[in-house]
Amino acid sequence: MKSICVSLIAISCFLQGQNLPSLEEYLTEHNAVLTEGYMIPSQQQGVNELLNLHPDIESILEIGLNAGHSAENFFQTCKKLTKFVSFDINTHDYTKIAVDYLSQKYPNVFQFVPGDSRKTVDAYSIVYPEQKFDLIYVDGDHSYAGATRDIVNCKKLARAHTILLIDDYSPEMEVKKAVDDLVKRGFIVIKNVYHAEDRCWVEANYR
Ligand SMILES: C[S@@+](CC[C@H](N)C(=O)[O-])C[C@H]1O[C@@H](n2cnc3c(N)ncnc32)[C@H](O)[C@@H]1O
Repeated sequence: MKSICVSLIAISCFLQGQNLPSLEEYLTEHNAVLTEGYMIPSQQQGVNELLNLHPDIESILEIGLNAGHSAENFFQTCKKLTKFVSFDINTHDYTKIAVDYLSQKYPNVFQFVPGDSRKTVDAYSIVYPEQKFDLIYVDGDHSYAGATRDIVNCKKLARAHTILLIDDYSPEMEVKKAVDDLVKRGFIVIKNVYHAEDRCWVEANYR
């Protein structure tokens, strides 16, 4: 009886996820007014070219959920995802709408960790010391100190070959200086730099 109930709940969650509109439609229906930038379609296309070279990606850590655009793109492209953990300080009202959407659409796979990544990423790595991710996407606090800290803290949740994607590697951004300094210190190595319209991001590995 118990296993029948569990199966029915799982089927109902699955059907609920299937009936959802697109993320954009859901945000509009819930009157979300976005105030921060996000992964625009041309950048999604560039990121997907890399993702398509790695069809076996099963786990992704993201810092910076915002309205869920990059998260939804990872879900749509990485067909084998079994774990997607997104950290966000959660100060935008619309982030809660995105969390609601992604939780319904990807139950048991999407996890949201609210709070300042300065503390939450470290806390997560202490609670789950064995957890390592195939891909880490850093797109949260864009200050020099914030980006440096996120990249350094995420190393505890990475393996040698974890793909590290860091957004906002544009000349005018402090993120670029943070990344370049970590390269000089031998902490990470850049594999590729990507551009789409005014966006720039890097693919790197930890050393
Ligand atoms: C540029 S947006 C992320 C866009 C998202 N990755 C996308 O492409 O759809 C940056 C996000 O980082 C979050 N953020 C900023 N500082 C943070 C911090 N210290 N800890 C956690 N999240 C933070 C913001 O709340 C915001 O949602």
